[in-house]
Amino acid sequence: MNVELKNAIIAAGQGELLKFWDDLTEAEKSAFAGELAAVDWAQIPRLAAEYVLKRPEMAIPDDLTPAEFFPLAPATEAQAELYRRAEAKGIELLKNGKVCCLTVAGGQGTRLGFDGPKGTYPIGPVSGRTLFSYFAGAVARASEKYGKPVNWYIMTSPINREATESYFKEQNYFGLSRENVFFFTQGTMPAFGLDGKLLLSSKSSLALSPDGHGGTLLALRKSGALDKMISDGNEYISYFQVDNPLVPVVDPRFIGLHALENSEMSAIMLSKTNSREKLGNFCVSQGRTMIIEYSDLPDELAEKRNPDGSLSFIAGSPAIHVLSRSFVEKLTSGGTLQLPWHRADKKITCLDADGKLFTPAEPNGVKLESFIFDALPLAAKVMILEGDRAEVFAPTKNATGVDSAESCREMLTARNARRLELAGVEIPRKIDGSVDAVIEISPRLVLDDADAAGLVNAVGLKKILPGEKVAL
Ligand code: UD1
Repeated sequence: MNVELKNAIIAAGQGELLKFWDDLTEAEKSAFAGELAAVDWAQIPRLAAEYVLKRPEMAIPDDLTPAEFFPLAPATEAQAELYRRAEAKGIELLKNGKVCCLTVAGGQGTRLGFDGPKGTYPIGPVSGRTLFSYFAGAVARASEKYGKPVNWYIMTSPINREATESYFKEQNYFGLSRENVFFFTQGTMPAFGLDGKLLLSSKSSLALSPDGHGGTLLALRKSGALDKMISDGNEYISYFQVDNPLVPVVDPRFIGLHALENSEMSAIMLSKTNSREKLGNFCVSQGRTMIIEYSDLPDELAEKRNPDGSLSFIAGSPAIHVLSRSFVEKLTSGGTLQLPWHRADKKITCLDADGKLFTPAEPNGVKLESFIFDALPLAAKVMILEGDRAEVFAPTKNATGVDSAESCREMLTARNARRLELAGVEIPRKIDGSVDAVIEISPRLVLDDADAAGLVNAVGLKKILPGEKVAL
């Protein structure tokens, strides 16, 4: 290891990381030195002091007000006209190949009790098609519909990069052209022990964890994804999370409104179902739009009501965004970007003082993550558009209950039933109005209501029977 690196580690108060150095083979030394060289040692003492040794107070600005948004149904004729122009603009941008998709897929299926990249979780209510298969089908259909390939960028973490890519290879990229699918890997952060010392996962490696989806922005630059977007002429990035198969991978109205409003970063909002729904909250402070995470919004603000009884902070985030490529270029132009860090206390398997691997029963360390929505206050202009929850948001986060695979499958069936009903198909419903069947429609065939009508015509579907399982 070179002397400067060793001195930097010692100066950062982390010399103990080298405690087992003499036990290592030459190959281990060289790999470990490479890992250590990637850490920004000058930052470590500050991070330990600010985020680990004391619990950072989430500074909630005093002047926080709810953010304004464009409503789902236009409020005036002028707004209706704006939405029509936005939709036309979005379609034009898609036809000109100006739009690409970006899925953040660094997460594992741990909360679902699933061992593997979350995107490989089987969610299709009849076929069991995976989350990735949903997005891939929709990307292929959008490319076909608008006559230009929609590039798809997929961010993985170092932990699931290989498994994700192998899965796509096995699936033959779901029929997409290889050059239109671009994988890139997010960065990592070393994990801290509660005493502010970095943890080792072996004698020759740090305990590293993904740096949060805020890492997307810098990873886009470092991986060459931004360069590809530039050379392919992609100007707008349609961003969504891997856990939401209902998401419209490209939404012409949303993309068009982003462009017409000269927004740098836009967001879909949903009206929260209750004051404590686990969604980030759209707020404004000092004229800057921001998202305050559900866990950070103080009770008195979460519970605050308007005179009509509705929640004041009603706008929740389904994590669906459009970002201008130029905004990402600007933010990362110096090759660095420092969004705020968020602390998460975790159980981290690591070496104990004697160099033995130990799995704690209680949280023993701190992981630091940055969030992409912390880029909102940095945007010169932000646009927020209300989405129709039943059409855009069915997150798969938990094994059962709220935001589970089960609720997601029900919502997929409900959305498909609505589309078929609109196209004239008779749908069996229970007394409470829910669909009395399981209905899956291939995203490769149907991107929107118009596609559904075309499919119904083509297959001559008239009715679905009670209890039937249908896959179209
Ligand atoms: C997230 C949002 C929340 C939003 C909700 C909507 C955060 C902190 N909160 O909550 O505001 O209302 O979704 O469903 O994101 N990911 C990576 N790399 C990482 C960490 C996460 O790619 O290092 C990806 C995951 O694969 C997933 C997404 O980011 O696609 C969200 O992560 P998750 O931890 O599931 O966030 P939530 O707490 O569910």
